[in-house]
Amino acid sequence: MFYVFLCFIFFSLTSSEPNTIEMSPTTDDPWDLDGPCQIYVEKFAIVQSEMVRCASNWSIPPKVCTNCFSQYINFKQVEWETKNLNHVFSLDNRTCSQVIYDNYLLSYSTDISVALTQRIWEQSRCDSCLKINWDFEKNSSGVVFNDRTLQFQSKLYDWRNCVVNYTSGDIFEDISNETQICSLCNSTFDDLFNFYWNIYIDPTTDFCVDVETTMNDTLHLWNDVWKCAERQDRNRDLVSVLITLCVLLVLTALFYTATFIQGGGKARNLIRYSRMAPPRGTRSRLLTGSSEAHFGSSYSTVNTFPPISSS
Ligand SMILES: *[C@@H]1O[C@H](CO)[C@@H](O)[C@H](O)[C@H]1NC(C)=O
Ligand SMILES: *[C@@H]1O[C@H](CO)[C@@H](O)[C@H](O)[C@H]1NC(C)=O
Ligand SMILES: *[C@@H]1O[C@H](CO)[C@@H](O)[C@H](O)[C@H]1NC(C)=O
Ligand SMILES: *[C@@H]1O[C@H](CO)[C@@H](O)[C@H](O)[C@H]1NC(C)=O
Ligand SMILES: *[C@@H]1O[C@H](CO)[C@@H](O)[C@H](O)[C@H]1NC(C)=O
Ligand SMILES: *[C@@H]1O[C@H](CO)[C@@H](O)[C@H](O)[C@H]1NC(C)=O
Ligand SMILES: *[C@@H]1O[C@H](CO)[C@@H](O)[C@H](O)[C@H]1NC(C)=O
Repeated sequence: MFYVFLCFIFFSLTSSEPNTIEMSPTTDDPWDLDGPCQIYVEKFAIVQSEMVRCASNWSIPPKVCTNCFSQYINFKQVEWETKNLNHVFSLDNRTCSQVIYDNYLLSYSTDISVALTQRIWEQSRCDSCLKINWDFEKNSSGVVFNDRTLQFQSKLYDWRNCVVNYTSGDIFEDISNETQICSLCNSTFDDLFNFYWNIYIDPTTDFCVDVETTMNDTLHLWNDVWKCAERQDRNRDLVSVLITLCVLLVLTALFYTATFIQGGGKARNLIRYSRMAPPRGTRSRLLTGSSEAHFGSSYSTVNTFPPISSS
């Protein structure tokens, strides 16, 4: 019985020899039912692991779309190939595609592929930033970034260039001393942020996670680390303090001017009274001494110092 089994294996090996041996040395292993498919699985494992490595590496912040698209294309290319292995057979005459995807209860490579495609690539909304023109047949898929992503990048670089431009050498040290950087580069920053914000609040357009996290981190750097929002607020505070001070000064000046003019008016009234009513008759006799002297003195005082408003 065992002899027959061995004979069968040997027979099937030799019969499929021209097809598979040159492609996969593991076919030599007579115990490996799926020997002819092994080389494809190994190739798949390599492109999967490259994609995993890239995605893991670029995970803080998550920026898989813009950094790992070539790994993703390679992975998808080989995935397509493994799904179209209809010309290579296992020892029990199943296609390698069947072996890889259907033969066993568990398929690690399928699970990993699903995770890479759905949990990583699709959850990062990579389609919102770039478009891959798939061409599996010719193994010549290409990538095209969309306009808003390119514009975002160029605005980001404008701002970074501005910061680099106004710092000499070590940005970390310069920023901590250089309070000017916030006002010098706030126009490029506003430009970047407004561009992002207009797309962010528009429900019909979207950015991939790469751009969102980049903007988030940039905002934190600018506001919380370099404290540019605070510094601009401080400037704004200074301005408002100055304005308040000016208003107070003007009000005070007005108050004193008004008081002075009012004082002058009283003086004029006094003049009129003193001119109009020179005391006569019997009552005038009562106004003697100090009273007359008082009127006279006030009259003469006003005469020598006329009010400012009348001059
Ligand atoms: C890993 O990520 C860092 C930046 O986060 C990058 O500089 C480096 O080149 C990456 N390495 C690989 C192998 O992609
Ligand atoms: C394998 O199956 C195909 C059809 O699916 C058949 O044409 C071929 O002869 C079979 N080969 C062997 C070795 O059984
Ligand atoms: C597909 O092309 C890439 C480079 O463009 C190459 O590295 C890879 O080996 C090719 N894959 C196949 C199966 O030919
Ligand atoms: C950098 O500074 C130079 C002059 O100092 C100026 O001409 C140039 O426009 C600046 N570039 C940026 C990006 O601010
Ligand atoms: C920045 O401050 C550090 C100390 O806090 C000082 O050693 C350094 O010279 C300063 N750099 C500039 C450009 O002023
Ligand atoms: C940049 O900041 C300066 C000073 O805080 C301010 O005068 C200027 O208006 C700001 N520019 C923009 C575009 O916000
Ligand atoms: C950006 O930051 C906000 C708050 O800091 C957070 O709620 C949001 O999830 C962040 N977005 C991304 C893509 O990290």
